[in-house]
Amino acid sequence: MNITVIGTGYVGLTTGVCMASKGHKVYCVDISKEKIDAINSGTSPIYEEGMDDLLKQALKKGLLKATLDAENSIKDSEVVFICVGTPSREDGSINLDYIKTAAETVSQNLNNYKVIVVKSTVVPGTTVNVVKPVMDKSKKSYGLCMNPEFLKEGTAVKDFLEGDRIVLGVIDDESEDVMRKVYKDFPQKIFVTNPTTAEMIKYANNSLLAAKISFANEVGNVCKKLGINVYEVMDGVGMDKRLCRSFLNAGIGFGGSCFPKDVKALISKGEELKEPMTLLKSVISVNEKQPIKMVELLKKHLNPANKKIGLLGLAFKKGTDDVREAPSLKIIDELLSLKAEVIAYDPEAMSNVKKIYNNKIILADNKEEVVKKSDAVLIITDWDEFKVPELYKNKIVIDGRKIKTNAEIYEGICW
Ligand code: UDX
Repeated sequence: MNITVIGTGYVGLTTGVCMASKGHKVYCVDISKEKIDAINSGTSPIYEEGMDDLLKQALKKGLLKATLDAENSIKDSEVVFICVGTPSREDGSINLDYIKTAAETVSQNLNNYKVIVVKSTVVPGTTVNVVKPVMDKSKKSYGLCMNPEFLKEGTAVKDFLEGDRIVLGVIDDESEDVMRKVYKDFPQKIFVTNPTTAEMIKYANNSLLAAKISFANEVGNVCKKLGINVYEVMDGVGMDKRLCRSFLNAGIGFGGSCFPKDVKALISKGEELKEPMTLLKSVISVNEKQPIKMVELLKKHLNPANKKIGLLGLAFKKGTDDVREAPSLKIIDELLSLKAEVIAYDPEAMSNVKKIYNNKIILADNKEEVVKKSDAVLIITDWDEFKVPELYKNKIVIDGRKIKTNAEIYEGICW
């Protein structure tokens, strides 16, 4: 089928290359000429395992074209995916401006029947109450589906091609039929519902994963004071068939562009509907305090003022260069407020952190330099290259990621 994907971020580009890998003909539409040129030259603007290979194959087969030309791409497509950003506002609610702009563009180019697919993460009610009225203005017949993504950064391609399920929130049978054709060569089970339920599945899914992490961290904070290993506790808990072990790794807390944003958006939506949202507010509260525990533990061993404190890792998790809502940022701010000098290294995220802190922190060339030049080391991101016990000899180490070290003085955040 002919498909247009509007937005070439990690959801849009992943959608485009994966759809092309199944034989669909895909237009990847964006407003950034730089991104368009990079994609058409076979270089993905974002690092995702397997993305470049699929992109190159799609370009070679003439199944993918990146373009600024939304109008003609939409006109030549049977299905249009909206994969634009929905950034958080100050109050935690999401900004729908890009969704509305994309919907208007589609509505103005419905030269024949098409199914519009909202894949961006939008709060429950958005597809039916915001996108649908924009399409109705066209007075044309169209299909509408809310198809949430469950992509983890670093494994987005694998998650798209082999994820646990495909959720289709459709307005009618015709939309469902078309969407089943779109996904006919994907192995996942297809779950069909209405658009608002599909939106809530996404938010409930991410909020429960985030809640699991805050739960593990709250229990971990108690385990540390009891001198027991929260990882062993969660191994035992995870054997209960009603629960499951994943996303119960206690540590420095969750970051990234999704969990914090999605939980806050659901809280905001709930409060708009006059619900107190007590539990999810606590999930956020536990998570915001967790990184600061690293500094509290450090202060048990030295006064950070005028000392060089080393940070190993800046990205919100291994396998990505993304520092959005990363615990490292909260820790850097806290250390700078205590007049410490920060020296940091991350295999991928240095340029992103440099943009935020400029010369307020020292960026080291490698992990050895951080360890050598610092009075104490904080392990922030679970990169495999930090898992070298002898690296930490004779050092004070505060570990947020359960990494084995032979440090002289070692404190784990929850163990
Ligand atoms: C998440 C969801 O997993 C994905 O389904 C959704 O589509 C987007 O948001 P992502 O944010 O990319 O994906 O990363 P994820 O691997 O889920 O980790 C999120 C954060 O939780 C990271 O900071 C990670 O370090 C942390 N985490 C994860 C824990 O602290 N403990 C865990 O057990 C698992």
